[in-house]
Amino acid sequence: MTELNNLNDNIESKKQSLDVLDKPEEIVNPISNIHNPLSENKVELRSNNEKEAATLFNGVEISKLTKRQLKKYRRMLQWNKSKKEKRAKERLRLKSKKKFARKNNIDLGPSRKQLKRCTMENSPCKTTVVIDLSFDDLMIDKDMGKVIKQILRIYTENRRSMTPMQLYITNFNGRSKLEMEKHNGYEHWDINFHSENYLDIFPKEKLVYLTSESDNDIMELSQDKVYIIGGLVDHNAHKGLCYKTALEQGIGHGRLPITEYFFTKHRKVFTINQVFEILLRVSEGKSFKCAFELVLPKRINIQPAASSKDS
Ligand SMILES: C[S@@+](CC[C@H](N)C(=O)[O-])C[C@H]1O[C@@H](n2cnc3c(N)ncnc32)[C@H](O)[C@@H]1O
Repeated sequence: MTELNNLNDNIESKKQSLDVLDKPEEIVNPISNIHNPLSENKVELRSNNEKEAATLFNGVEISKLTKRQLKKYRRMLQWNKSKKEKRAKERLRLKSKKKFARKNNIDLGPSRKQLKRCTMENSPCKTTVVIDLSFDDLMIDKDMGKVIKQILRIYTENRRSMTPMQLYITNFNGRSKLEMEKHNGYEHWDINFHSENYLDIFPKEKLVYLTSESDNDIMELSQDKVYIIGGLVDHNAHKGLCYKTALEQGIGHGRLPITEYFFTKHRKVFTINQVFEILLRVSEGKSFKCAFELVLPKRINIQPAASSKDS
């Protein structure tokens, strides 16, 4: 009985192979029927490597694929097709957006070329922000990954600014470093990476640990201070840890002044990248109120406080 089943399976897979052979253009040139306005007529220019890849799937000739492999192969073709279409659509969308902006005198912000020149070294902003990565041992892998993801966002935001802040990452030596190493070329990013603690890099009197537990509202940023953000994702498991650290180390501490402007139902503990982005917007000249509105998601229920400044 099993032999009969095997035989049936074999016949079925051979049939599938023949099915595919009935559609030679799909096999020899799997991308030929993708509608891509930018690459029409270019199929013939494909390199020998690409042609070879088109007749093989995972190193197996298309005509010799099993039923299961064929299924995978077709899924791959479908995915490639939609990927190319999506990219072409996105390119067209950006092109018409730029055209529209030019026509209507709309400022689309700095170009990539301009941003390339806006490095921390060239930036007029000398406000320093440190991400303190000394909490690796308190996090599970998933949360460690979230810290690094937030740092990637921070880096992107800083690179997109015409006046980036002076960004440091300290205690960069443990699991967080290993996690960061998954991102090729990170060493060349415009960030000051240090394996030492911030205490070994900056004068103590300049340090201000940012923590929601502090009673000191920071009403303006000083170019002379070094603001530290705890590189910790803990779902409130270590409440008050950064505040305690600041007290133990005898350094300054401060919190973002959200209660000056808004009444919030929830706790005022923000993510690492939210804190950074609020500081960045303020250092660019926005008010704290405006920065909170820009950075915090709308679903966070913040309402103007009765005695709100600026309102
Ligand atoms: C997700 S929080 C970590 C909370 C952690 N339980 C603690 O004790 O700080 C990440 C970091 O963002 C900063 N932060 C979050 N909310 C803040 C606020 N309201 N004011 C100032 N800094 C804040 C702190 O530096 C904090 O370490």
